[in-house]
This record gives sequence, C-alpha cells and structure tokens, in this order.
Amino acid sequence: MIIAPSLLAADFTRLGKEAERAAKSGAEWLHLDIMDGQFVPNISYGPAVVAAVRPHAKKLFFDVHLMCGKPEILLEPFVAAGADQIIVHVELADKVPQLLWKIKSLGKKVGLAVNPPTAITAALPHLDKIDLLLVMTVNPGFGGQSFIHECLPKIQQADAWRRDRKLNYRLEVDGGINNQTVADCAHAGADTFVAGTALFSKHNMTAAVAKMRKIAHAHDPALADLKV
Ligand code: DX5
Ligand code: ZN
Repeated sequence: MIIAPSLLAADFTRLGKEAERAAKSGAEWLHLDIMDGQFVPNISYGPAVVAAVRPHAKKLFFDVHLMCGKPEILLEPFVAAGADQIIVHVELADKVPQLLWKIKSLGKKVGLAVNPPTAITAALPHLDKIDLLLVMTVNPGFGGQSFIHECLPKIQQADAWRRDRKLNYRLEVDGGINNQTVADCAHAGADTFVAGTALFSKHNMTAAVAKMRKIAHAHDPALADLKV
C-alpha cells in the first residue's frame, strides 16, 4: 500500500519545509498536481517548482499528475525536474498511446488517469502498457473537494480486470480521500491513496499517515480473505 500526500494542499510559502514534512511522515510517495489552466480550470505549478522541492524530499517517489492538454511538451522537463512516474489523462484520446510510450522511453513509470465522467472502459486498450491506473474521485482542478461515491464501481472494475488479466498496475485514487473514504476505496480494491487536505492540514502528518494506512489496511479485501 502506498500513501501519497498531494503537495497541492501544502503551504505554498514554505514548500521546502512542507516537502520535508511529507518525507518524514512515513508516506512513500509525493503526489504533484500539475494544472495548465486549459485541461482544468486552474493553474498550479510547473517543473521549476518540482525541481526546487526535489532535494527536500530525496527519498520520496515523485508521482507527477499532468492535468494538462499538451503533456507532450512537459514530459522531458518533468523528468529533468525529478519525476519518477508521470500520469497523463485518458481523455486525451488519440494522443494517449504515444504519450505512454514516450514516458516509458524516458525510463519512468507510466500512469493513466480517468476522470469521474469518463467510462473506465476508456482505459481498457492501455492496461498492459501502464504501471498505474488513477481513478479520479473528484473532478480535477481543485483540492478540498468532496469524494464522488459513484466512482467506487470503477475501482472495483479496474481491480477485477487486473486480477482476470494477471496485470499488476497499481490502482490509485485521488480526490476527497480522508479517513472515511479511504476505507471505501481500499475495500473496492485501491492500493495507492493520494490525499492533500486530509494530510497537509494536520499538524502531525506522521500520525495522520499512520492512521490512514491503518484504516486502509483494515479494509483491504485481500487481507480480509486471509482472515477467513
Ligand atoms: C485534484 C487533484 C488532487 C487533489 C487532492 O485536482 O488531482 O490530487 O490535490 O486533494 P484533496 O485530497 O484535498 O481532495
Ligand atoms: Zn492528482
């Protein structure tokens, strides 16, 4: 199981310190939300900010989520900035195969994201080419939104495909994840949990990460099977 605090919810006046807090929290990944003001109606930060933060969280895996209409111009800059994985959106349709290939050819892990209104079947043609499938649980663009429960069957479907096809992509959820919704997502089969507000808003992020991990663990269906 992976917990990935999202830097979008950090205090932007002290990003280095915030990244250090995440690095010491027990989380494995740092999630970096990149918004271009076109694919989503908001702008966050770019490769220069990611590069500046990188030395403050050396041991964390950098999970870069591109909510961008033209990711093809951003792949090399984010690799140079320290990305370990780059996630692009399935809504980019015809562009997707080339983008996935390019990320892999740059030697990085390959992620694919599916927005709440998009059918999960849109990801089907790409499942054997990805390391991670991100099921968005809010409409992307802003932190602090409420979890959309209608997304849960998509997680179950993606988990079932993974088992049936003997694939091993990670199954990530992003948006509105807190100590309640993490249980539902873990139960549905998610194994990688992005949380912005629920982790960065806490004075003690280490305790918050440990608690979220414990709840997700308790709802892991694989472990529940073992207990029977
Ligand atoms: C939404 C972003 C999320 C967001 C999650 O556009 O992709 O990563 O930062 O934030 P919370 O956990 O606050 O919903
Ligand atoms: Zn994200």
